[in-house]
Amino acid sequence: MDAARRLFQSNIMAAAAVIIMNVIGSYVSSIGAGMACPDWPLCPFPPYSYHVLMEFLHRVWGLVVVAAIILSVLRARRVKAVGELRVAKTLVYTSLVVVMVQVGLGAIVVFTALLPELVALHQLLAQTILSLQVAAAGISWAATTRHVEKEQITARG
Ligand code: HEM
Repeated sequence: MDAARRLFQSNIMAAAAVIIMNVIGSYVSSIGAGMACPDWPLCPFPPYSYHVLMEFLHRVWGLVVVAAIILSVLRARRVKAVGELRVAKTLVYTSLVVVMVQVGLGAIVVFTALLPELVALHQLLAQTILSLQVAAAGISWAATTRHVEKEQITARG
């Protein structure tokens, strides 16, 4: 399997992880569980209420999101920076920076007792990470398809 295809797969995994995170985050927000864990990074353990459990899930899933993005960075490093794949690499590296800022911002959201402007910024960064990974997926998929077409033409002679 070529490096572009592996990159595509990890982009899709990262995008899916962020979509799930959006659902968990909005749920945490709408049930009013944003301050269920008043500290950072840890939540009371074992979680003593449903709200704590949901905020705990949000933080644990944050680790899954970060892991998925790190995987996409590792795979992007194996892709040759030629043509549009150079752009895909840049998008993936940018998503790593943004997710690090997002984790820090998550802490600030808690320390400011859910300042609305910061919660909105937290949402904006989540959408940004999703867009970066989806755009990278589109590019890596296009590169994979082109690679397969080229192989077929060569095979046909
Ligand atoms: C691990 C560190 C993180 C912490 C401490 C954290 C903290 C929070 C808190 C407290 C809320 C609830 C805000 C409220 O009640 O209004 C929230 C919501 C949310 N979080 Fe996080 N978060 C973290 C990581 C992430 C990551 C990595 C993402 C996505 C990439 C994310 C996406 C969201 C979204 C989409 C919401 C819903 C915001 C809304 O209702 O508009 N969070 N987060």
